[in-house]
Amino acid sequence: MCANTIPELHDTSHITYEGLLEGNKEFVANTLKIDPHYFDKLANGQTPPVLWIGCADSRVPANQITRTMPGEIFVHRNIANMVIHTDMNMLSVLDYAVNVLKVRHVIVTGHYGCGGVLAAMGNSSVGIIDNWLRHIKDVYRLHAEELIAIEDEKKRGDRLVELNVFENVGNLCKTSIVQNAWKKGQDLSVHGWVYAINTGLITDLKISQNSNSNLENVFKFVL
Ligand code: CO
Repeated sequence: MCANTIPELHDTSHITYEGLLEGNKEFVANTLKIDPHYFDKLANGQTPPVLWIGCADSRVPANQITRTMPGEIFVHRNIANMVIHTDMNMLSVLDYAVNVLKVRHVIVTGHYGCGGVLAAMGNSSVGIIDNWLRHIKDVYRLHAEELIAIEDEKKRGDRLVELNVFENVGNLCKTSIVQNAWKKGQDLSVHGWVYAINTGLITDLKISQNSNSNLENVFKFVL
């Protein structure tokens, strides 16, 4: 979900319901030309080493922007790439990824110009989503001093995008799922990235964690 789109540059009027099905047939034909057994192999199971938690924004597709293929990244996307403590959808994906698929990396990927983050910075009511974005207002509150000091609104929005990733990486570390994996000595790192839609480039925020040693004491579980 992003507010900063310019409609005339994003004409999707040629995208039709039927066209998607045609596109699928073309995808299958092209793939089979390269490897006749591709889908047989893919159907045998998945062992992705990475869980991607990203924004639902249509311009941030996990596979394309990392040049990966089906089977290589386990993906969870929601508005503004949030890791919310009580979100059963996210927790179920995380649990399956960590405990069944045994992914080695969980990456929270935000993106500059994120409509969800920008909406959270403002005062307009968008609807039920206001309650989802409330979590980002908490991120703002936690970093209010730094953010208020940034006069340029775009720069402030960019910084809130980064801080939102930072806080959501922290939220991941605080889950019982990630703490349990670390307690068991499982090889698991969590990372925070930001994608710039206008360049296509990902920046590693270098906030990776692979143990709960940096967690404030109140969040540490005795497992
Ligand atoms: Co977004």
